[in-house]
Amino acid sequence: MRAAAARAVAAVARGATLEDALEAVPAASGRDAALLRSLAYGACRWHHRLEWLSAELLDRPVEALGVELAALLRIGLLQLSAMRIPDHAAVSATVDAARAIGAPRAKGLVNAVLRRYLRERERLDRAMADVPRARYSHPDWLIDTVRTEHPERWIEILDANNAPPPMWLRVNARRGSRDAYLERLADAGIAAAEHGRETWPEDAILLAEPVPMARLPGYAEGDVSVQDAGAQHVLARLALEPGQRVLDACAAPGGKAAHMLERCDLGELVAVDRDPARLDAARAMLARLGLEATFVHGDAATPGEWWDGKSFDRVLLDAPCSALGVIRRHPDIKMLRTREDVERAAALQESLLDALWPLVAPGGRLVYVTCTIVHCENGAQIDRFLARHPDAVVAADFPPEQTLPGEANRDGFYYACIDKQQASRWRVPGSKH
Ligand SMILES: C[S@@+](CC[C@H](N)C(=O)[O-])C[C@H]1O[C@@H](n2cnc3c(N)ncnc32)[C@H](O)[C@@H]1O
Repeated sequence: MRAAAARAVAAVARGATLEDALEAVPAASGRDAALLRSLAYGACRWHHRLEWLSAELLDRPVEALGVELAALLRIGLLQLSAMRIPDHAAVSATVDAARAIGAPRAKGLVNAVLRRYLRERERLDRAMADVPRARYSHPDWLIDTVRTEHPERWIEILDANNAPPPMWLRVNARRGSRDAYLERLADAGIAAAEHGRETWPEDAILLAEPVPMARLPGYAEGDVSVQDAGAQHVLARLALEPGQRVLDACAAPGGKAAHMLERCDLGELVAVDRDPARLDAARAMLARLGLEATFVHGDAATPGEWWDGKSFDRVLLDAPCSALGVIRRHPDIKMLRTREDVERAAALQESLLDALWPLVAPGGRLVYVTCTIVHCENGAQIDRFLARHPDAVVAADFPPEQTLPGEANRDGFYYACIDKQQASRWRVPGSKH
């Protein structure tokens, strides 16, 4: 498992997402699969700290090791510094894995570095306190960004990013109530969290501990899905009514589309995404839940290519974003994302907002959502949009809201509800009418 984890983490270091990287390594099952995931996720979560430790412990530049051996060393240090694996077992399994990754001659080096860590652990822990990227295990640019954007809360946010994520469920309202599902969970020996229930969205359940999806009663039959509470809060903001025509402009893999269809008898839900594999995943998800939508493989920034010209009562733009609010679920974001990605995401969001606004019916609503925590993709994005579109007003019932990672156990999300005024209620600047 150590070798497979090292290969996956090395693939992330070369630019792959962790989920893609894990799919590419040989499949493991049962406890092996669980260990592989905790090693790979842990190595991404603590990457910047482990990288610093490696540099402190090696007598040569880390780059000289090659990507896979460096990843294996981090996997070894992860076990000794952050996992409940006995030291001797962690060292010997990691040393053995050097052969499996094709570096048998590095066994001595791996052994020496891990044993040196065990001897110098206390000194290193003290030294780490003065090195922010090691202490908080985030890249320097991201620490600076979070600190600048949230000067009062930055440490809390970085700590929340490093915590293992909770598991939230969404009960399929078409197939039973939340209370009934809580009873089914209790019968299956799965505990729901007790604390903070009053803050759960209406279909949500927070589990006391994550469990494999296969253990969830009725999962295959579509009685329940896994979805963070932050994502479930989108539904109320859409203020859906039966019969409405709704566009989900960036729909895959379909979580929010499914929630809409579970809760409301819509006239039609058009689900667009430009990624065909993700769109297939959305199709499969809706099929499991017994729900139907009109799927469109297309670019939401160029609706002229796929729109039939009939306006929508509601448009959900769950925008591609820098995803800095979901780092605890996707710790590889800390290794993959750059400052430039944030700027690129903001530019894409602006073009999506402008392209989709004409599709909203007068009196209709566009709900803009991101899972990030930076102003240029959130509040500033919406302020600029409102300045460009005189017929757009912030909805009175839901002012824009930013939640931060970990707050009420949720991921970090931003929501803005923008209503389109009826044509008679606004004027084009400079027009006499
Ligand atoms: C945040 S995810 C959407 C999650 C989804 N709404 C859900 O609840 O499961 C953003 C999605 O936008 C898609 N996307 C990115 N750029 C796009 C574009 N120009 N047009 C359509 N889809 C796009 C991505 O493929 C991705 O699936």
